[in-house]
Formats: sequence, structure tokens, C-alpha cells
Amino acid sequence: MASISPTGAACGAVVSHIDLREPVDDATAALLRSGLDDHHVLVLPDQQIDNEQLERFSTVFGSLGTDPWFVPIDGSDFIAEVRREAQETTPLFAEGWHSDWSFLETPPVATCLFGLQIPPVGGDTLFANQHLAYERLPEQLKARIDGLVGMHTTRKIYGKGGMYHEDNEAEAGRSMAFVQDGDPYDGEHPLVRVHEGNGRPALFSTIGYVQGIAGMDQAEARELLVELHTHQIADDVVYRHRWEPGMVVIWDNRSVLHRATGGYDGHTRVLRRTTIIPGNAAAA
Ligand SMILES: [Fe+2]
Repeated sequence: MASISPTGAACGAVVSHIDLREPVDDATAALLRSGLDDHHVLVLPDQQIDNEQLERFSTVFGSLGTDPWFVPIDGSDFIAEVRREAQETTPLFAEGWHSDWSFLETPPVATCLFGLQIPPVGGDTLFANQHLAYERLPEQLKARIDGLVGMHTTRKIYGKGGMYHEDNEAEAGRSMAFVQDGDPYDGEHPLVRVHEGNGRPALFSTIGYVQGIAGMDQAEARELLVELHTHQIADDVVYRHRWEPGMVVIWDNRSVLHRATGGYDGHTRVLRRTTIIPGNAAAA
């Protein structure tokens, strides 16, 4: 039977005694779902899985979702590749703190990554526990954000005019495949949301995707979002994840923010990713 051991950091737990080449039985699926509700990031080392097994594992936590701005790999509608070649000089992908596709009307519940080619140095993923960040906010700030709604948008990030659009000179040589000319997405979500699985409030805001607060002057909103951000990524709410080849990591986008880190120039890094949307979680 699989077992779950917390990392001892602000979030995250390691799952042992599980082989994702085999279907996950009902009891293990329940353990994994409650583990994700409790720890927000699950790490499953030493897996040797193909794309279908990655998709099957993902459905333990919901339904497979398509990605609005990634071109999927050949042979799957649901898997994207996070890739950086050894000699690539484009800006690091996803280096800003975010919750995946938070601009959608119904954002994904979780994201899963499988490490295929992992450099010997660098490339850690940082996770910031947004339940803890909310709990530790000064009471005055909690009161200030009560009932406020963040305005999420892709306009500065993806598509025409966005940082990852091929019109940017810095994007030359990008090995990841982004959709180029899709229409922008705009979405509104409360700055504080209660998690359906664990019942705890969590902050749901990022500097990249949230460009305003509904009904608030832009300058005032920006100041508030920046102040909130400092609490959201405080050192004591962050877990730094060190990758190994064959590792599967799944995180709850309702509970954590995450970001990529560099430090592996000269090494190729390849991970495969699924995005998990609300839906019938299967025994799989
Ligand atoms: Fe991400």
C-alpha cells in the first residue's frame, strides 16, 4: 500500500510504494486525493511511465484538460512538453509566481509534471502554500481584501503583445511550442477562495495574471496586489522542490502558487505535463 510522508517544509509530501505503470486502486486513489488536499503537492519518485500512464494517473484527481496556450505533443490532446534545450537563451519559462491558467472561468484544479530529462544542477520548482499565506496575513490586510475580486488576464503574457509571443526578439529559439495567435482570456476570481476539498481559505492572486481588482482604481489595486504578493511568497510558506529523473509531481492550483527556477544552462531539461480540470475523479 502506498504511503505518504510530509516533506517537513511549508507544503508537499512524498508518496512511496506506488508504481504508476499499474492502475491505481480505489483505496490508493482516495489516499492520493486526501493527500493532495492536505499537503497540496505530491512527489512520486522513481516512476517509469509512458504518456498513457501519465494521463491515467492524472484522472485520479479529476478530468484531463486541454491547455489554452500550449501546443500538445504528437499523439495526445492532453500532454504538453516543458522543454529547454542546453544552448537555449530565451527567458526562462514560468519564472514568475502563478497558478496555472488562473484566468479561465473554471481554472484547473491541479497540474502534473513528469521529469524525463533532469539536469544535475538547477531547475528546482518553488511552491508557495497559499492557505498558510492567508492565515499569516496581518488582520488588517485580511479585512482589506475581504470580498475583493481579482481581474486575471493573459494579455501581457500569451498571444499577440504578450511576453511569449514570437514577435518578441527574445523568443527566438524557444523550444517549447506555444499557441501564437489565440484570443486573450480575461477572468475574475475572488482574491480569497475556500478550497472545496479541505475547506480552508487560500489566496488566489498573482502579479503576472492579475492586472487589477474589480471596482478599484488601477494604482491602488496594483499597490495592494504587490503588498499581498510579498506575503504570498514569504520564505516560510515556500517549499523548494528538487527534481530527479522519473519523478512525478502533482500540485493543487487552488492551494499553491508555483514558479520555475534556472541555474541549468548547458543542460537540456524535459518534462511532460497534464492539466487537470474538475470532473469525475476516476479510480483509474
Ligand atoms: Fe505553471
